[in-house]
Amino acid sequence: EEGLHAIQYPWEHQKWNKTFDHQALRRGFQVYREVCSSCHSLSRIPYRSLVGSLMTVDEAKAMAEELEYDTEPNDEGEIEQRPGKLSDYLQAPYKNDEAARAANNGALPPDLSLMVKARHGGCNYIFSLLTGYPEENPAGVQIADGLNFNPYFPGGGIAMARVLYDGLVEYEDKTPATTSQMAKDVVEFLNWTAEPEMDERKKMGWKVLTVLSVLTAMSIWIKRYKWAPIK
Ligand code: HEM
Repeated sequence: EEGLHAIQYPWEHQKWNKTFDHQALRRGFQVYREVCSSCHSLSRIPYRSLVGSLMTVDEAKAMAEELEYDTEPNDEGEIEQRPGKLSDYLQAPYKNDEAARAANNGALPPDLSLMVKARHGGCNYIFSLLTGYPEENPAGVQIADGLNFNPYFPGGGIAMARVLYDGLVEYEDKTPATTSQMAKDVVEFLNWTAEPEMDERKKMGWKVLTVLSVLTAMSIWIKRYKWAPIK
């Protein structure tokens, strides 16, 4: 059974002449770290990719250094721990899928790196999902034990409960952290993780348009110049 069709929102960052709002990306990453990362991995994202787009190199280094990573096995095959560095990837909350399922009533919280691309509806779907848990189940709706009603999730019963509530995080830029603000920011951030090249692509589009219009103008001028004597 398909879920309720997500509402179409006018995402600023998806417009052809706009880029990601980097302050929003920063807030969205904060929501991911403080809320989603206890269950969901973001395994395609290395700390180095945060530099410039979301934070300074020193901030990213400090964040990586807070965590421990395995060293390569030494000659005796022993693995030790070392502080994280920029080339490391964000750490997953669980050791493996079995551990993840065990902690989530049998359900697997999927990796979020490409989720915006993987799900039909993309940003609209994830925003609707996060903000779409009703206070009470509609009359007559039966949801299996351990599942939560969400009309946007195909089937209607999702293992993830509502996670966003007004005021859950405290944004460093003092943006009021309403449920919808946090959902919007984390979705924009997840769009960035899935398409980090989007801004570059749009900038390249402008260059292509500029070069092509100059070339077109020149060829029109040359054509007229060459054909001018022929009546
Ligand atoms: C599933 C996003 C927080 C547990 C999902 C899905 C998304 C998502 C997009 C996939 C839905 C689908 O398959 O179509 C998020 C975001 C979070 C967040 C953005 C933070 C704001 C959490 C937390 C937990 C959790 C904190 C655990 C306490 C799960 C589980 C599933 C899931 C178990 C699988 C649901 C199922 O297949 O029934 N989440 N999530 N999520 N999430 Fe989250």
